[in-house]
Amino acid sequence: MGSLFGIRAVMLMLLLLFLTIACDAASRKKHVRVTNELGGGLTLKVHCKSADNDIGLQVLPPNAFFEFSFSSGIFAITDFYCSFQWPGGFKWYDIYEDGKDYLECDKCWWAVRTTEYGPQPCRLNLSNGKYEICKPWNPK
Ligand SMILES: *[C@@H]1O[C@H](CO)[C@@H](O)[C@H](O)[C@H]1NC(C)=O
Repeated sequence: MGSLFGIRAVMLMLLLLFLTIACDAASRKKHVRVTNELGGGLTLKVHCKSADNDIGLQVLPPNAFFEFSFSSGIFAITDFYCSFQWPGGFKWYDIYEDGKDYLECDKCWWAVRTTEYGPQPCRLNLSNGKYEICKPWNPK
């Protein structure tokens, strides 16, 4: 009888351990940073929002950045949408969506930089430290 109780206690502990690991794996801290690398002395204005969180308008002089963090996972689905404005341009980009980004990055660092296609959001490649994963803006 005593040993049966012992087995039950061990199984309960294993279950709790499993649940702890599962919950941790299902919720990850995400860090978003946006740097102004437009060049040409241009100021970038960025405004990011989720359904229940407004990061507020950020005015970025050349080479300045801002950042924010949040927890994301199956218990807290999070999508952040940002507008980007600079002299002569206004665009939207979904800077973080669980559906496309959850497995892509925990350190989701972006630079808005002028590429051969004009200004674009480019994500940091953690393997080589370059902002080279460039994406198209949202369609209008
Ligand atoms: C990131 O950098 C590594 C090393 O240079 C490279 O092999 C890889 O293709 C890059 N990933 C992307 C998505 O560009």
